Amino acid sequence: MGNDPAGGPSGAETPDPGLFRRLLSRVDDAGCRGVELGAHMMTLYALARRARGPIVECGVGSGFSTLALLAGAAEADLPVTSYDVSARTRDAALRTIGLPADDARLRRWEFRVKAGHEGAADWPDGTLGLLFLDTTHFYTDTRRELGAWAPRMHPDGVICGHDYLLHLDPLWTATGVKRAVDEFVSAVEGRYQRVLHRRDHGLFILLPRDDERW
Ligand SMILES: C[S@@+](CC[C@H](N)C(=O)[O-])C[C@H]1O[C@@H](n2cnc3c(N)ncnc32)[C@H](O)[C@@H]1O
Repeated sequence: MGNDPAGGPSGAETPDPGLFRRLLSRVDDAGCRGVELGAHMMTLYALARRARGPIVECGVGSGFSTLALLAGAAEADLPVTSYDVSARTRDAALRTIGLPADDARLRRWEFRVKAGHEGAADWPDGTLGLLFLDTTHFYTDTRRELGAWAPRMHPDGVICGHDYLLHLDPLWTATGVKRAVDEFVSAVEGRYQRVLHRRDHGLFILLPRDDERW
């Protein structure tokens, strides 16, 4: 049996299904490397843990969100599928998670090179328990992603995404998340209640309004 300093004993015969120790060890890093997801990783973990269907991530980047979603998915026994236009982000995510691609703890993770909105064609309607969006942050892309994925969501499914408040940061020009999300919430007429976490450029969370579990 191998000894893995970040995650305890390693090897297929002694899987660490939680990945929680790895998540804890990365939360601070995520706020210090320009990813600015640090304030939201534990929320993503909790949302994944409570999801009732497969989890989808659009925008892998350095893989901090991937790690948070995978840690929760392991406890909910759910698959995570991540989409990114750049194939290199798969290796970046593996470095952040700190596991080789063939590790048994990653068996529930699938990475697909595809634009976020195109991934929706891979899924039947009404299935997804959690969708996380973190791609270009342009209005047109965010709007297209929300439009493509909305029919794929389970009635109890939650939609969330990073950088809702990016327009408040003068250093950024891709600042259409808030407008696209607000228009979407209005268009689906009461289906979702919007919750906002303001730190680190903002995380929006759309909870199904009629689901008392949330
Ligand atoms: C801000 S980073 C994501 C950060 C990531 N969530 C993390 O925790 O490190 C944005 C990512 O979106 C990807 N991307 C850009 N346009 C995309 C699109 N249309 N569909 C999917 N991914 C896209 C980029 O390649 C990049 O990896």
